[in-house]
Amino acid sequence: MINLAVFASGKGSNLNSILQKSFSGNLNAKVEIVISNRTQCGAFELADRYGIKKITVSDSEKEGAISYSELEVLFTEREIDLIVLAGYLKKLPESLVNNFKNKVINIHPALLPSFGGKGMYGMNVHTAVFSKSCQVSGATVHFVDNIYDNGKIIAQRCVDISDAESPEEIAQRVLEVEHELLPYVIQKFSDNKVIIGSDRVRVLN
Ligand code: GAR
Repeated sequence: MINLAVFASGKGSNLNSILQKSFSGNLNAKVEIVISNRTQCGAFELADRYGIKKITVSDSEKEGAISYSELEVLFTEREIDLIVLAGYLKKLPESLVNNFKNKVINIHPALLPSFGGKGMYGMNVHTAVFSKSCQVSGATVHFVDNIYDNGKIIAQRCVDISDAESPEEIAQRVLEVEHELLPYVIQKFSDNKVIIGSDRVRVLN
């Protein structure tokens, strides 16, 4: 069993998929803390529903929020094994990323390295994919480093979007895949099956 800290800014459907699998015994991982840059969001509603500690984080003074450096202390105290960005739309500070190297992963709603980088999040991604007339899209789980969407890729899944009629339709199809891919990768961490080689990342069967 590994302990997770999950960051989310919005609806929290990826957090929900992790929680569902965790509570039904299909994922050997426990969500210890849910963190958001927002004081109210779907992810926090889920945390309340499941009785999970929730924390608002801010890089400036904000009532009721803690700083990223305080968060680092908490991660150590709570023995967090893996930090999961599940729809977190803020960049993490360099110190956090450096101090938890290879322990921070992100899910991105496209096939990186295409359609990534600053400003490429949520519907912006799907609108860009649609307007390029891409025939496939998908989801990527990757390590987080100090550049947006740049860390090594751990796992990807493709989605056929050749008949998709809108960015919203692409978003819906990709999200379904995300809900399977992210828990899959977390389980691989739990099983010690994510191997970080000098050349590439391998996920063992
Ligand atoms: C997901 O599609 C996730 O991949 C995306 O935000 C959505 C959050 O949905 N993340 C990014 O775009 C990060 N670059 P959710 O709140 O329902 O999980």
